[in-house]
Amino acid sequence: MVKVVICGAAGGIGQPLSLLLKQSNLITHLALFDVVNAPGVAADLSHINTKSKVTGHGKEEMDEALQGAHTVVIPAGVPRKPGMTRDDLFKINAGIVRDLATGVANNCPGAFVLVISNPVNSTVPIFCEILKKHGVFNPKKVFGISTLDVVRSSKFISEVNTSIDPSTTRVTVVGGHSGATIVPLLSQIPGGFVGSLSQDQLDTLTHRIQYGGDEVVKAKDGAGSATLSMAYAGARFTLTLLQATVSGQRGSVESTYVNLDADLTNESVKAFRNRTGLDYFAQDVEFGPDGVEKILDLPTLSSYEQKLLETAIAELKTNIDKGTSFVTENTIA
Ligand SMILES: NC(=O)c1ccc[n+]([C@@H]2O[C@H](COP(=O)([O-])OP(=O)(O)OC[C@H]3O[C@@H](n4cnc5c(N)ncnc54)[C@H](O)[C@@H]3O)[C@@H](O)[C@H]2O)c1
Repeated sequence: MVKVVICGAAGGIGQPLSLLLKQSNLITHLALFDVVNAPGVAADLSHINTKSKVTGHGKEEMDEALQGAHTVVIPAGVPRKPGMTRDDLFKINAGIVRDLATGVANNCPGAFVLVISNPVNSTVPIFCEILKKHGVFNPKKVFGISTLDVVRSSKFISEVNTSIDPSTTRVTVVGGHSGATIVPLLSQIPGGFVGSLSQDQLDTLTHRIQYGGDEVVKAKDGAGSATLSMAYAGARFTLTLLQATVSGQRGSVESTYVNLDADLTNESVKAFRNRTGLDYFAQDVEFGPDGVEKILDLPTLSSYEQKLLETAIAELKTNIDKGTSFVTENTIA
């Protein structure tokens, strides 16, 4: 039995994400939870001729949806509108994520949790803090989904150099998941890619990756933020994790935003933590049967990337504090 729950399943991301996951034979039960329209989306998807059972769960049925979950994917919340930053979303989405974390702690404390709701830099600390309060936090099992930054990086570099195949060239993206906290390590792309760019091209490409979400928000003109590309990225991450945790596949790597306790004995993670004071960071992670198998070492950065990283670290500290303080200030002891 592999039950995957989508919280926010009727939304712009939730629906296409559920459709993509319905195609996987690794999932036996897809449970769709949303405060609106979940039964309708579930009835529709349930007619697709793949093995998994699909159930829909409305506003009052969060507990039932979450019970027995192997993995919980969370695209619940409000998307960005023009003029809003990811931090503007904080107040609304923080409360939603806190309540879902409480639901996970009560109903499926051992589940893998994939947080898509923005601002990820703060919502992941909120989720972890709530699980800690319930005594069920396992840092190897909670992931902030920054895969869209990786997906965009692959695509955008292939538009600069058409000999790059975006479907097979993975870019490591470290830091966090908003604006200046997104640090794409373009110097790691083989074939001397960065060396072939002018400083202007490198600045433009880096900025495009960091603020790619704005292109979509602007083009949708008030109708929301990235949904289809996000669903693709979310499904890619979920399926990679399931291949490791259900099928026992080893060695797969994705960049993701995690609590650094996920790899406690790793000396380079310890050194990074001592230097920066950060408890959360996005980095390449290798998956294993228990979730995070290993946080990979940061490669040697170019001086350009080092500067980006220092900016990211300062902003991340604030974002993380905002998440942890929200839990301290908004939960009943
Ligand atoms: N991680 C990323 O890369 C990334 C990319 C794009 C968007 N996002 C974020 O994902 C979230 C969802 O975006 P969207 O475009 O799908 O928004 P949307 O408004 O289309 O959908 C959100 C869904 O969540 C539901 N919802 C609200 N409160 C809920 C609750 N308490 N429990 C369950 N469901 C609830 C809503 O009813 C709605 O169906 C936003 O926070 C957005 O900023 C993240």
